[in-house]
Amino acid sequence: MTEWFESWFESEEYLKVYKHRDEKEARLLVESIISITNIKNKSKILDIACGAGRHSIEFAKKGFIVTAFDLSKNLLNNAKVNAQKAGVDIDFIRADIRDFYIDVKFDLVLNLFTSFGYFESDEENFKVFKTAYNHLNENGFFVFDYFNKKYLEANLTPNSISRIEDEEIIQNRRIEKGRVIKDIIIKKNGREEHFNESVKIYSLNEIKSRLELTNFNIKNIFGSFDGTEFDENLSDRIIIIARK
Ligand SMILES: C[S@@+](CC[C@H](N)C(=O)[O-])C[C@H]1O[C@@H](n2cnc3c(N)ncnc32)[C@H](O)[C@@H]1O
Repeated sequence: MTEWFESWFESEEYLKVYKHRDEKEARLLVESIISITNIKNKSKILDIACGAGRHSIEFAKKGFIVTAFDLSKNLLNNAKVNAQKAGVDIDFIRADIRDFYIDVKFDLVLNLFTSFGYFESDEENFKVFKTAYNHLNENGFFVFDYFNKKYLEANLTPNSISRIEDEEIIQNRRIEKGRVIKDIIIKKNGREEHFNESVKIYSLNEIKSRLELTNFNIKNIFGSFDGTEFDENLSDRIIIIARK
């Protein structure tokens, strides 16, 4: 059976639907991360589930040495083209979060923009914390960016319709059995394509305790990409900076 995250992120449509999640937004977060961690130029960075590489490329442009992996061949191809256009050299690898291992240690590991909670079991979902920990040098940083459960539950938009070029994009959202489910219908030239997202909802406390169980020290929690302090009622994101 093909999982939802295999077909959706492999499709041409994902980057269109999320086109507002762009380099500008990535640059803001990358600059916040650099100023908070004070990470030195030429440090080694691992981007887990890098997508089309927007954060990896920003870090590489600033002189960091970046390795990045993702499952989607299509997004990795986009990432390689984007890196070439930006004139940076990044080691892109195709791998699955659940069994990624390389014999290299990094100074900073990233897991950004809800690249988490896709699997059924907690064990599979939280395995990424161990992967991050095991690939970090002593005192290395892990940056984890996920949605804020409390904000999501209070502010979920059940339906939205948008137009991109000649496509109509309908997104229906609901919370069911502890997951946020999004059905995405794309209408183009009288034809319809269907995709969905299904992400397990974890509270801030669950995430914090799993990070601590993995032996991370939580240093900061931010609520948006510009480094604003986290507020459980007002922040849509949970951005945690943890240290090995
Ligand atoms: C919401 S996107 C975020 C991408 C990127 N971090 C960004 O901020 O643009 C989630 C990413 O996780 C990747 N992904 C999904 N399941 C994966 C898996 N099992 N192993 C590795 N990557 C996976 C997708 O292909 C996609 O690129």
